[in-house]
Amino acid sequence: MPDTAVRPHIRHILSADQFEPDFIKLLFERADYMRRNVEHEQRHNRIGSTLAGHILYRLFFKESTRTYESFGFAATHLGMAVLGTQDVQNTSIAKGESLEDTIKTINCYLPSVIVMRSAQAGDVARAAAVSKVPIINAGDGSGEHPTQALLDLYTIREEIGRMENIHFVMGVDPYHSRVIRSLALIAAKYSGNRFTFVSPKEFRLQDDVKQALTKAGASFSETDDVAGALKQADIVCWNRFQLERHTPAQQKFIKENPNVIEEYSIGAKEVALLPKNARIIDPLPRVREIKTEVDDDPRAAYIRQMYYGMIVRMALIEWTLGHLG
Ligand code: NCD
Repeated sequence: MPDTAVRPHIRHILSADQFEPDFIKLLFERADYMRRNVEHEQRHNRIGSTLAGHILYRLFFKESTRTYESFGFAATHLGMAVLGTQDVQNTSIAKGESLEDTIKTINCYLPSVIVMRSAQAGDVARAAAVSKVPIINAGDGSGEHPTQALLDLYTIREEIGRMENIHFVMGVDPYHSRVIRSLALIAAKYSGNRFTFVSPKEFRLQDDVKQALTKAGASFSETDDVAGALKQADIVCWNRFQLERHTPAQQKFIKENPNVIEEYSIGAKEVALLPKNARIIDPLPRVREIKTEVDDDPRAAYIRQMYYGMIVRMALIEWTLGHLG
């Protein structure tokens, strides 16, 4: 069972590393059940009631479309009440209130679970340290995005029917992409998975994840050869340059190499290099890293991935509230 560093009796979701394959198997079986349920209810113009009487609160200090909305819809399909804010400028944090005081405040209003996105890595763990209710990390700076990693893995299972013996090709900003970081951490727990990280050398994966991969016995390499990597991919996980988090040196690099975004973009020409059964996933938003001409290729899974995201989040919300295992 997942273990947490803070308030271990509460089921927080802080890092992809807290989840093991045995648990993920159960979680995905529950997600399959949720999916059948939600589709059944929808056919009858109804929403579910599994978690009626519970409240989900979303505290988002940074921009989001999919994560914010899919948690809201997931909770609604479970019959929960949904509240939240997506704008730190309109909270007392803008007046100088601490994150800890904000969390203690929200706790007083009796939510069942808090979903939080922060600007800084580690902020969600700080929140969890003072919260009496479960906190779900919905992305903390360049830290992690564990629920995205789980929905990525569920997408992979749906699309190619396995979660092991996969060659992952991941780009284009492994340094800052919390999605790449969390997915690598979780996928490394399955046997035979190997990783090729594709990026300019200025954006290579940071040492913490490299160490975790080495510890897990997963083999990985780094390259700036997009075409060479795509030719051997089973799963391509492509995520935009995280411009808002670049260091001054990285900003300078992008400015001095204006073609780099295009050079790392996947279009029809690149897709033609992929093996027939490969799949492309992308957490989105799309900011030129994949061209729209790719969308209708059966290997493009990033639209279906958003639906799976809501389903997996339904199962995860339920787990934080004490259900499932
Ligand atoms: C990702 C994120 O916020 O890290 N998006 C998401 O959650 N769907 C990826 C990104 O912003 O590039």
